[in-house]
Amino acid sequence: MVSKIIPVPSFDCIVFGGIGDLAERKLIPALYHRQCIGQFTEPSRIIGLSRSSVTENEYRNFVYKSIETHVKDEDIDSLEIEEFLERFSYISLDVTKELGWNQLKERLECSQAGVRAFYLAVSPALFSDIAVRLGETGLITPDTRIIVEKPIGKDLDTACALNNRLGDVFSESQIFRIDHYLGKETVQNLMALRFANALYEPLWNSNHIDHVQITVSESVGLEGRIGYYDHAGALRDMVQNHMLQLLCLVAMEPPSLLDANAVRDEKLKVLRSLTPININNVGKCTVRGQYLAGASSRGLVKSYQEDLGELGKGQSDTETFVALKINIENWRWNNTPFYLRTGKRMASRVSEVTVTFRPIPHSIFTNDAGEVIANRLVIRLQPNEGVKQWLMIKDPGPGGMRLRHIPLDMSFADAFSGRNAGAYERLLMDVMRGNQTLFMRRDEVEAAWKWIVPILDGWEQTGQPVHGYNAGTWGPSRAIAMIERDGRTWNDTL
Ligand code: BG6
Repeated sequence: MVSKIIPVPSFDCIVFGGIGDLAERKLIPALYHRQCIGQFTEPSRIIGLSRSSVTENEYRNFVYKSIETHVKDEDIDSLEIEEFLERFSYISLDVTKELGWNQLKERLECSQAGVRAFYLAVSPALFSDIAVRLGETGLITPDTRIIVEKPIGKDLDTACALNNRLGDVFSESQIFRIDHYLGKETVQNLMALRFANALYEPLWNSNHIDHVQITVSESVGLEGRIGYYDHAGALRDMVQNHMLQLLCLVAMEPPSLLDANAVRDEKLKVLRSLTPININNVGKCTVRGQYLAGASSRGLVKSYQEDLGELGKGQSDTETFVALKINIENWRWNNTPFYLRTGKRMASRVSEVTVTFRPIPHSIFTNDAGEVIANRLVIRLQPNEGVKQWLMIKDPGPGGMRLRHIPLDMSFADAFSGRNAGAYERLLMDVMRGNQTLFMRRDEVEAAWKWIVPILDGWEQTGQPVHGYNAGTWGPSRAIAMIERDGRTWNDTL
C-alpha cells in the first residue's frame, strides 16, 4: 500500500536554540524531509533564535550545512533546498534579557500561518523563563504549542514545579513533551502488533507469558554530555522516560480508541501499578553498573572515570548501566516480571523487546527430538527494525522427529521499500496537527518520577555499589545473576 501524505496546517516553527546541536542534527533534517514529501501547507516558516549575533545569510548557511551533513545524498535535491532555505529567518534573542523579544513579536504579528509552535531546544533550566516570557510578551494564541524535551525535572518535585510553571501559561493540550522513543516506527508498531491482530491479545497475560525483557543498549559513551550525564545517570536518562514508556506500551490494556487521552490513560494505569522498588528491595531488584576501559565495537575506549577526566576526579558513582526487575500489580501481569536493562558502552547498539511465552504444559516428544524451547516474540526497535516470532518446527527431511527453534522473521527493510521516517519527523508533524498521542502527559511524567525516586533514594540509603563492567560487554555480571536467580537468561540473540 502506498503511504498517504496528509498535509499539516501552515505553521510558524520558532526554535529556541536555533543553532544548537538538536536543531542541527535532528530538527532541521526532519523538517527538510517533511517538506520534500509535500507535507507543508503555505505559508510555513521556521524562525531560529539564539543569543549569538548571526546574520540571516549565516543562519541559512548553517541550515544548508545541517542538511548536507545529516541528510543522505540521495535525498538531497537542490530545488527543494532552495525552497526550504527561504522559510528560514533568524533573530538574535536573549531569553532572560530584552534582546530580540520585540523583533520576535513583530515577526509573528505579521504571520499568516495557522499554527505557532515554540520548540525549546535549549537547556531545561531555561524552560520556565521562556514559557513565562512567551506569556508576558503576548505571543500565545489559541493555536500555539510549546515543545519541550526531557529531562522534565530531575525528581518528582522539580518535575511538578516545571509542569506548574508551564501550566500557568499553557493549557495541557498546548504542551508537547517529547519522548523521541515514541516517535520511532517500531515503537508505534507495538500498538499495531497488539491491537491490529487478534492473535496475540488472548495470550497477552500472565497465564501465557513467562516474562518480558526490554533492552536498550548503546555502544556510545558520553558523547560530550559529561556535565548533564554525570548528574543524571542511566536511571534518570533512559529508564524514567524511554524505557518506562516502552514497558507501558507492552503492558497497557487496549485503549478504546487510538486517541491521545485514551492511550495515555492506559499508560498511566500501568505506571501506577508498578510494584514500588525502594530501600527494602532495591538490592534485589536493581543492578547499577559503570563502564571500565575495554574493547568496544568502536575500538579501545576509556573508562567512564577517564572520560569524565578532571570533572569526576576518579570518584563519580554515577551509573552508566542499570538493570531492573519490575513487577506489575494487576490481573493481567501479576506473575510476569519485566526485566529492563540499558547502558552505555555495551557490546552493541540494540533496542529490543522480547516477550517469552510459557513452556508447553506437556511434551509428547522423546528426548531424541531435542529440547522444546518456549516461544518468543522479539520486537526489534533499532537497528534492523523488525519482528521475529520464534517457533518450534520439525527439522525438515528424514531421520525421525527432530525439533528446531527458528524465527518467522519479518525484517521491515525487506518487507517495505523506501526511507524509514525518523522519530522527529513524525513528532514534529504531530505537533502541527495537534495530535498528542505520542507525547507524554503531565500525570504520566509525574507518575514515572514517583516510581523512580524511591529507587534513587534506596540506592543512596543502602549504599548500593556501582559494579564495573568492561566496555564492549553486556554489563556487570550481577545483572546476569539477577535474572538467572529466577531461572531465566537475557535474550542473547541480539
Ligand atoms: C537520549 C538520551 O534521550 O536517548 C541519550 O539522553 C541516549 O543518553 C539517547 O543516547 C538514545 O537515543 P537513540 O534514539 O539513539 O536510541
